[in-house]
Amino acid sequence: MAHHLGELRTAVKAQRCDATQSRQNLGTLLAVSTDVGPAFPGVEQPFLDAAEHLHTQVQNALQAAPADCAALATAIKPVSDSCHSCHEKYR
Ligand code: HEC
Repeated sequence: MAHHLGELRTAVKAQRCDATQSRQNLGTLLAVSTDVGPAFPGVEQPFLDAAEHLHTQVQNALQAAPADCAALATAIKPVSDSCHSCHEKYR
């Protein structure tokens, strides 16, 4: 998960934001984010909500189909916010 978000961040930093590659990384992140809830059986509902929130944010980022670095930076901001908010509480 960190790997794919990391690649997107690196792309923004390097100002190399290939639309196809961004979409691939977001797509993988979307698939992985689906597994976060099931990966922790028996967790409390707020955790599952946080996982669902992440999933939604990644979906939004994919739908935004960021074509350049500015768009990519904007698109992944809410995604990394949802990573942080869950980590603050549960990690
Ligand atoms: C629903 C809650 C939740 C969300 C959302 C979440 N994480 Fe985590 N993350 C955790 C928990 C809990 C751990 C600690 C897991 C453990 O210790 O087994 C963790 C651990 C990690 C680790 C450390 C890995 C390790 O093996 O210690 C990384 C890196 C990480 N998360 C990245 C991310 C990224 C990047 C995102 C967003 C794309 C994200 N996480 C979103 C709950 C979440």
